[in-house]
Amino acid sequence: MAQIPQETLQRIREATDIVEVISEHVQLRKTGRNFVGLCPFHGEKTPSFNVNPELQIYKCFGCNAGGDVFKFVQQIDRVSFTEAVAHLAQRTGIALPSADQQPVDELSDQLYRACDLAMKYYHHLLRQPQGKETLSYLQNRGISEETIDRFGLGCAPAEWDAFFKVASRRQFDPAVLERAGLVSARKEGKGYYDRFRERLIFPITNLSARTIAFGARTLKGDQQPKYLNSPETPVYHKSSTLYGLHQAREAIRQQECALVVEGYMDYLALAQHGIKHTVASAGTALTEEHCRLLARFARRVVLVFDGDEAGSAASLRGLEVVLATGLEAYVVSLPGGHDPDTFVQAEGPEALLALVGTAGSALDFHLGQLARQHDLRTLEGKARAAEAVQSLLARCRDTVRRDLLLREASQRLGIDEKAFRQQLQQTLRRQAPRAPQAPQEQIPANQAAKNLRNPERTFLGLLLQYPRFIGPTAQVVRPEVFADLRAQHLARLLFNEYHQARELDLSDLMRRAGDSELVQLISTCAMVGLDEAQVEQEWEGHVQYLQREALTRQIEQVQLELHKAVAARDETRQQDLQREHERLRKERQALLPPSSSP
Ligand code: UTP
Ligand code: MN
Repeated sequence: MAQIPQETLQRIREATDIVEVISEHVQLRKTGRNFVGLCPFHGEKTPSFNVNPELQIYKCFGCNAGGDVFKFVQQIDRVSFTEAVAHLAQRTGIALPSADQQPVDELSDQLYRACDLAMKYYHHLLRQPQGKETLSYLQNRGISEETIDRFGLGCAPAEWDAFFKVASRRQFDPAVLERAGLVSARKEGKGYYDRFRERLIFPITNLSARTIAFGARTLKGDQQPKYLNSPETPVYHKSSTLYGLHQAREAIRQQECALVVEGYMDYLALAQHGIKHTVASAGTALTEEHCRLLARFARRVVLVFDGDEAGSAASLRGLEVVLATGLEAYVVSLPGGHDPDTFVQAEGPEALLALVGTAGSALDFHLGQLARQHDLRTLEGKARAAEAVQSLLARCRDTVRRDLLLREASQRLGIDEKAFRQQLQQTLRRQAPRAPQAPQEQIPANQAAKNLRNPERTFLGLLLQYPRFIGPTAQVVRPEVFADLRAQHLARLLFNEYHQARELDLSDLMRRAGDSELVQLISTCAMVGLDEAQVEQEWEGHVQYLQREALTRQIEQVQLELHKAVAARDETRQQDLQREHERLRKERQALLPPSSSP
């Protein structure tokens, strides 16, 4: 990681308000000392995402995401720590040491730099003699100079290693270029060749406007594939990238709606005609991650499909996901074999927006498709359609929503609702053990609550929020009184490094803690709500509780040993253990009544 001085980090952190930053992504509501909202990192209906303005940290009790403002930017924009710092530095106007003074060794930063070079190179070539054909192709398709520059369109020349040579001259490591999907090693093991040759280039950016990948269209009618795309890389994940989202995000938020088209050219045509709240799925079926991403900006999504065959099979598969994730989804199926690009060029943007305005619901559309594919007058047809809907329903994790879908689907397809429900229960039961839900998806409510109620965490929360108690605690208990190993770990860190602290810099602590489980524990604990007036008493109660619990564990251990000694007929050891047992019990009794447990 690039070395940014602690002091600079500190200044950036102080100049940034985490509530303000998060509010750009999440609607927050003030409750007590915290702000709460719907977690942007997992799908939920009731808010369990908390932001604490005093501690400047966030925490989701649903999926356990948490950390400081740098961590938030990292998670929400999917960028490296260095990138998050750079982003916030820019926001606050604090200067970072310039890039070439910093040792940049993080892989993702290297990949960004490689992609950035490629983007600039291809873009530059577009207006050079080599780019003439590509440029006139774009012009013929009605793409303006302004659009070309805004989206950094480019041209990969008809040479085997033009880009590779350019990058090599600039000391780029071939291994990094390969990792970025820009070049491939030759089979004979000697040298590299460019992935993109003789193609029109569409750079793909992430939410921080960094180039992370490319789509590349051939200009020859017969060449396959028509579009060649970057492979998955450490900075490019197809399932969570949408073409043009960075440029469209503000418009999507303002319109409270996102249009989803399939192609790069569709996207550009719409953008150029002033329809800016659009993204392109760029050849992959929509995933849940795509949907979650969109849900951060708007709840309403309109899929704009090609007219022929009601869009490709990929978009139809995407439709199931959209429905399952609970976005408010609509579908426009364009008339007359148009795709969004040709439609908007032929009919104009108002005509497209009119279709969007009257779009039917995605469920209607989906059921309509099923009704067309299967003959619902026959039993066989019904069974097939029911099967298809079952797979949709089984994906929907929100039970209320699932029930609504189920009711509507059985009505529309003329299937008996009760039987259908039973069948679904069976499917769900069968699925349950096979497909454990991704941890970030859903944590059982009791688990989240347990995290909160756990007295060890509450106590650590107290120490984090009122660090003046750390010193006194270290004097009376050892870290081992905590049963939880991570809690022990954190206690050790606090006792050793912060026993004189009056104030605690949580970000600093998190960075020192390093390991991500510990960071999570810190943010969980720091969020525990405490009654200011009762802190003193709480502290005493907790110390005693911890001591008593630790003694109980010791007693149990001794009892276990005692059993062994009895079995082994080891008289001396028995007597020792009995004495130890007695001592521990007395010690525990002296600790006051057990009813004072927190
Ligand atoms: P289309 O074949 O519908 O092309 O693919 P298009 O977007 O209308 O492009 P033009 O108008 O012919 O130039 C839709 C999208 O699917 C992806 C691309 O993202 C494309 O924009 N795709 C298509 C691929 O990834 N690979 C392919 O071989 C074809
Ligand atoms: Mn097209």
